[in-house]
Amino acid sequence: MRADHHLAPPAAAPRPHPGGQEHATAVAHPNIALIKYWGKRDERLVLPRVDSLSMTLDIFPTTTRVRLTPEAGHDTLTLGGRPAQGETLRRVSAFLDLVRQQAGRPEHAAVDSHNTVPTGAGLASSASGFAALAVAAAAAYGLRLDATAHSRLARRGSGSASRSIFAGFAQWHAGPPTADEDEADLASYAEPVPAAGLDPALVIAVVNAGPKAVSSREAMRRTLDTSPLYEPWARSSADDLREMRAALRRADLEAVGEIAERNALGMHATMLAARPAVRYLAPATLTVLDGVLQLRKDGVRAYATMDAGPNVKVLCPRADAERVARTLRAAVPDGSVLVARPGPAARLLPGER
Ligand code: PMV
Repeated sequence: MRADHHLAPPAAAPRPHPGGQEHATAVAHPNIALIKYWGKRDERLVLPRVDSLSMTLDIFPTTTRVRLTPEAGHDTLTLGGRPAQGETLRRVSAFLDLVRQQAGRPEHAAVDSHNTVPTGAGLASSASGFAALAVAAAAAYGLRLDATAHSRLARRGSGSASRSIFAGFAQWHAGPPTADEDEADLASYAEPVPAAGLDPALVIAVVNAGPKAVSSREAMRRTLDTSPLYEPWARSSADDLREMRAALRRADLEAVGEIAERNALGMHATMLAARPAVRYLAPATLTVLDGVLQLRKDGVRAYATMDAGPNVKVLCPRADAERVARTLRAAVPDGSVLVARPGPAARLLPGER
């Protein structure tokens, strides 16, 4: 891969920090897909089979500081102040290798990352985590990247992170199939999607805070390899995406919600048909889905989406968020319910380069 593809012109030469060490801190928020990313066509480059579209949230930011440590023989990582090892550290270190390659700099780094998701809330933090890491690491290593290049870079850490670079709604382009790896990498990034006039909330019902039995990476692989429903879903997801963009353009929350719900249920159908099946939906998930149906019968525009876990996110007009939250709390008294709205783009903290 050629490093110059990723630079926002003109690219300035890295400047040493006055203290002698390069460092930068960035903040990013999680996002929830309304049109799902499910399935990679290239695992190393993290190229998806389908385009996806999400809403960045205004809750649970991740703050990540990257400090170059030229004297160190390896990278270090702390999560919430605790040293991380094993696969987690390996993944972050592999990501830093990409940044080092692009920057043409060899130094190792110390990464300190803080999630604000309540411990064990069962909400994926890889999107906000790798978006914050991409922005902080690029700055610490002296790369001057624009948002598109940040998105491409974040994608390599976790596909969904490509969308957390942007505020509000964002579409992640799969890019056209090509055998040229540089070309494929360049063509796959997220960009903002206009949705003026839409005033939504996303009410999140956390029904199970435990870790997932099957990672999304493994579940995607198995679905692609074995599910007879995958190709039909991928085809219909392209239609969903087109309709979703039109619905967002006309700020039609009902259509946005209906498309999001059918797209998510379709994604889960592909995994249920995998061999062996991947089932993230739990009894409590279905109880919440019943609550959402009842809300609609009662005239509230509420629509559900679920990811690689049993938790349910319910899209509704902002004005109805408290009513939806009350219904979901009653449906799953043992769970917890949170209200989110469209959130901001990933950014460097002031005072950092
Ligand atoms: O980015 P990953 O590998 O955590 O995959 C996320 C996949 C889903 O959350 C299920 C869907 C999506 O588009 O975010």
